[in-house]
Amino acid sequence: MIGVFDSGFGGLTILKSFLARLPAYDYIYLGDSARAPYGNKSPELIYKYTEEAVDFLFKKGCELIIVACNTVSAEALRKIQQKWLPENYSDGRVLGVIIPIAEAVAEEVKKSPKRNRVGIIGTRSTIESRAYNRELEKLSPGLEISSQSCPLLVPLVEEGWTGRKETKMILKYYLRPLKLKKIDCLILGCTHYSLLFKEIEKVMGKRCQVFDSPKFVAEKLADYLVRHPEIEAKIFKKKKRIFYTTDDVNRFKNLGEKFLGQKMEIVEKVSLQ
Ligand code: DGL
Repeated sequence: MIGVFDSGFGGLTILKSFLARLPAYDYIYLGDSARAPYGNKSPELIYKYTEEAVDFLFKKGCELIIVACNTVSAEALRKIQQKWLPENYSDGRVLGVIIPIAEAVAEEVKKSPKRNRVGIIGTRSTIESRAYNRELEKLSPGLEISSQSCPLLVPLVEEGWTGRKETKMILKYYLRPLKLKKIDCLILGCTHYSLLFKEIEKVMGKRCQVFDSPKFVAEKLADYLVRHPEIEAKIFKKKKRIFYTTDDVNRFKNLGEKFLGQKMEIVEKVSLQ
């Protein structure tokens, strides 16, 4: 099984692209909706929740887990990979969403070196962690990086306010400093922002290329499975999809199906503590 973990609903945008790109595999999705959003929480708390979530998914039989949440990838992934995994599941693998998109941007800048002004938007925790800055600077030294946290966007998306004029006004407010910096590439560093892709593109204008994770993360996963046949061989390919939430099943299903763009057949409630 491939495990996909997110604080709540947002990771379903990543799973959606896995199901399109790699439909044959079995997937388990875990959304910790009872404790979401993670985006304004402390690094210690995010790490604790992540440890509980990946432990749950490994116990369910996952060989590989994708942390489909930027906040978790930024705040907890490194410690999980370097310390927790070797001590607990030395054969297990946990991957995140930051490196695939940072690599795609670095690749783009390599092609057009003059277009080297990069903007990042995300939750407060993701932006404060500077995880994107670190990865981008490693891959492409000399980039001009600007970032902006957009804490109001997650609740607006979850309320279904994507097309409303209030949301457009808030987007303009958040994106203005990045527009003034004349950025060439904008990273959508939060899973929810996929649902605002068109609105964000419109505000940023034609000269700015907007990078959204799902497509790049799915490509990276496909590539990873080719490069690791020993892991790939262990993952069942019966197209099974199971969804777990830590909160109300009906609410998860109703909103989740909008993020996933398809029906969720098996949804169960779990407790991670
Ligand atoms: N999934 C989170 C992210 O990509 C956004 C939601 C949250 O704050 O929990 O950062």
